[in-house]
Amino acid sequence: MSQGDTLVGNKRKTKPRITIEPSILAADHARLGEQAQEAESAGASAIQVDIMDGHFVPNITFGWGLIRALRPLVGLALDAHLMILQPERYLAEFAAAGADRIIVHQETCPHLHRTLQSIRQLGVKAGVALNPETPLDTLEEVLELADLIQVMTVSPGFGGQAFIHSQLAKIRRLRNILEARGLETPIAVDGGIDLTTAPLAVQAGATVLVAGSSVYNKVGSVADNLAALYASVEMGE
Ligand code: DX5
Repeated sequence: MSQGDTLVGNKRKTKPRITIEPSILAADHARLGEQAQEAESAGASAIQVDIMDGHFVPNITFGWGLIRALRPLVGLALDAHLMILQPERYLAEFAAAGADRIIVHQETCPHLHRTLQSIRQLGVKAGVALNPETPLDTLEEVLELADLIQVMTVSPGFGGQAFIHSQLAKIRRLRNILEARGLETPIAVDGGIDLTTAPLAVQAGATVLVAGSSVYNKVGSVADNLAALYASVEMGE
């Protein structure tokens, strides 16, 4: 057994790999290319690009043009988090721009099954995000179509908000549901991830931590901030 594995009954349970994924909403918008490269140099394997339309969320940020601009600058995965109405209208543009994963919100997809299928048909991984008020059972019929499930631990729209602790039980329930289905789907947690909440999210079953203001800030470098977050998760185990 490798380090970190545990035996449950006679089954080996491998400790899941935890990924911290910087969200560039908190980065310097005048230097997004450099900030994405800084995340890559610091060892990040993916960054999340927060796409907001000012309708689904009370903020307006970027379009697929930013994905297209970042694509040649970094090799890490670019995850487009679509906090927009009618995301199905723009899937091909985000895929063509170079997104590796497209994450849509359950709340904006009346035909979620078809939308997730459409993302996969474009050769891109399909993610679905749930706002804090949205129940898990809205995903009951599409779990097998999701390459990632993102539990929002803030109401989307802005960085620097407080972590909504009630979502920890939701993350735990989701992990149990996925395990019962024999699915090892990554669970991402997005919003308010810091040195205190990162270990809590992992203990609840999260494997991808989306972090904005705890990575991009004036306190430390991206590398130091990422290292501190990973250390907080290690210490919490
Ligand atoms: C919020 C965004 C989050 C946000 C996270 O709507 O989806 O990704 O950037 O920022 P922090 O980590 O500062 O809460």
